[in-house]
Amino acid sequence: MSKKRLHRILGGAIAAACAASAIPVQLMTAHAADEGEIIYATDFEDGVVEGFTGRGGAEVLEVTDEQSVSGDKALTVSGREESWNGPQFRLDEVCKPNTEYLISANVKSEWYSQVNFSMEYTDTEGERHYSNLKSQGTDQWVSFEDVKISFTPDMTNVYVYFECGDTCKLYVDDFELKAAPIIPIQDDLPSLSALYSKYFKFGTAIMASNLSSPSFMDLVDKHFSASMTFGNELKPDFVLNQAASLAYVEETGEDDNPQISLAAAKSMLDYCAANGIPVRGHTLVWHSQTPDWFFKEGFSNDGDWVSKEKMITRMDNYIKNVMETLAKDYPDVEFYAWDVVNEAWTDSGSPRTAGSSKSNPEESAWVKVFGDNSFIRYAFESARKYAPKDCKLYYNDFNEYIDGKMNAIYDMAMELKADGLIDGIGMQAHLDVGFPTAAQFERAIEKYASTGLDVQVTELDITTPDTSENGLKTQAQMYSDILDACVKHADSISAVIIWGVTDDQSWRAEKVPLLFDGEFQAKPAFYSITDGMEVPVYATGDLNTDGKVSVNDIVLLQKYLLTLKKFSAQQMKLADMTRDGKVNAFDLTMMKKRVLASQS
Ligand code: XIL
Repeated sequence: MSKKRLHRILGGAIAAACAASAIPVQLMTAHAADEGEIIYATDFEDGVVEGFTGRGGAEVLEVTDEQSVSGDKALTVSGREESWNGPQFRLDEVCKPNTEYLISANVKSEWYSQVNFSMEYTDTEGERHYSNLKSQGTDQWVSFEDVKISFTPDMTNVYVYFECGDTCKLYVDDFELKAAPIIPIQDDLPSLSALYSKYFKFGTAIMASNLSSPSFMDLVDKHFSASMTFGNELKPDFVLNQAASLAYVEETGEDDNPQISLAAAKSMLDYCAANGIPVRGHTLVWHSQTPDWFFKEGFSNDGDWVSKEKMITRMDNYIKNVMETLAKDYPDVEFYAWDVVNEAWTDSGSPRTAGSSKSNPEESAWVKVFGDNSFIRYAFESARKYAPKDCKLYYNDFNEYIDGKMNAIYDMAMELKADGLIDGIGMQAHLDVGFPTAAQFERAIEKYASTGLDVQVTELDITTPDTSENGLKTQAQMYSDILDACVKHADSISAVIIWGVTDDQSWRAEKVPLLFDGEFQAKPAFYSITDGMEVPVYATGDLNTDGKVSVNDIVLLQKYLLTLKKFSAQQMKLADMTRDGKVNAFDLTMMKKRVLASQS
């Protein structure tokens, strides 16, 4: 890295912002970064601390020669009163939204402790969000290299920061922030959604942070336009709003109506509305990623667990609030499926142990309050009442091919089906190379299909411990076998969703479980599930290649005409409804007529 601090010239608006926030003016850059350009780098050798502030406010930031990696000096942060105290660097005043950056730094905790490199931002409702980017634990210098970072225009007060498990001193050296090289996606590949559209929807799961990576979103656009799941943003811990729930209790005296916020999901909901991508809602009732206060008297952290009766009302109101808010604020987003209940059965087919998932991630507060799995039926009853009429309701689980769990899911599904409460079973399919075998997986598909309900593969990823060329080939074979099984049972399967797009962004990143690598390039697994597939011919107007011309295609064409969206060469051809070699408002009129005619 460059050992020199870079001083940049800056524009008036940014200068004013810097003055207001007391960030040194000469540090900041206002112009668009060229790829690879260093925005800021320092090795602290000149003895100056710039750009960094303390998160807690009480920290002392100074340059020290006690410790260093390069040269003789480093930044030291002392006076950390809480483990979350530490140095932060504000990004949104020097970086542009929807652009990828790379950050490198050497960091050391004085005592043996886990060093976290994390990010914070504030959403449109003023709520702060934190996410961990990378962690390493030791009392030696650890090196974070080229950690990818980006943010969307609706995020403000965007910081990266370092913290560690103790309140000891933290040291930072060789901090570098640069614009990431832009790696284009491969344009010549066939689209996964299009190739599989005659069998089922082929989609993916992404997180809000992915929206700001242009190449990542090009992959989503090209390969996964048939279905979108939000990796985290519609889970209870993102949606349930404790402050608003407490305020509601204060105002009304009632503590049975949990209040919600969709702020974390907003940018993704807007994206799906604008691009006409149907959404799988994930997930309403789950033991994990659900706060304990939801189950406690007065919605307070240390209240007693509520009664089963109160929890039935709370769950009903929560599901109602989610569905009503989505319908009111996001009428253009099509929720075609919801995971109503997630992961309620153990491998042996019994309910989870009663408890708080905060103290033991396997335990369930639902079982704590209900005493058993009877909450499942109530959840489906409420979801049926409030979900859109054409939205299908699923039970979703992992290890779904293990006998005990499989039989429990089957029995539960048959009971719910008898009362018209459930539409399908979601097989998460978090698999590993060699386990289960494709044959075991197929057996589970058959078992679930035999309920007569719909089946969806909801979170497919296949890890490999061996990331060599050979390992990736073995992984490709397993992907191919699993997709073969899905195609064979396509009559019973309406969607196959891959849990992520590029390996580096996966929740199981170390074992590279996805179809694209961190450089946005297709892996052997991609080719194994596309080679030899017939490239379908689409009707004019079917812009999202989902096999029909619908209102979603109208949305896409409108966006293109408003220059809010680029079209691929194939989409340009499909959009030319009037066949005059141009794509314009006449094509839109004709498409609207076609859709209206097909509806009447
Ligand atoms: C995972 C997300 O991918 C992670 O980002 C998060 O930290 C934990 O949850 N089964 C599910 C998904 O139903 O919601 C989980 O997603 C993966 C396992």
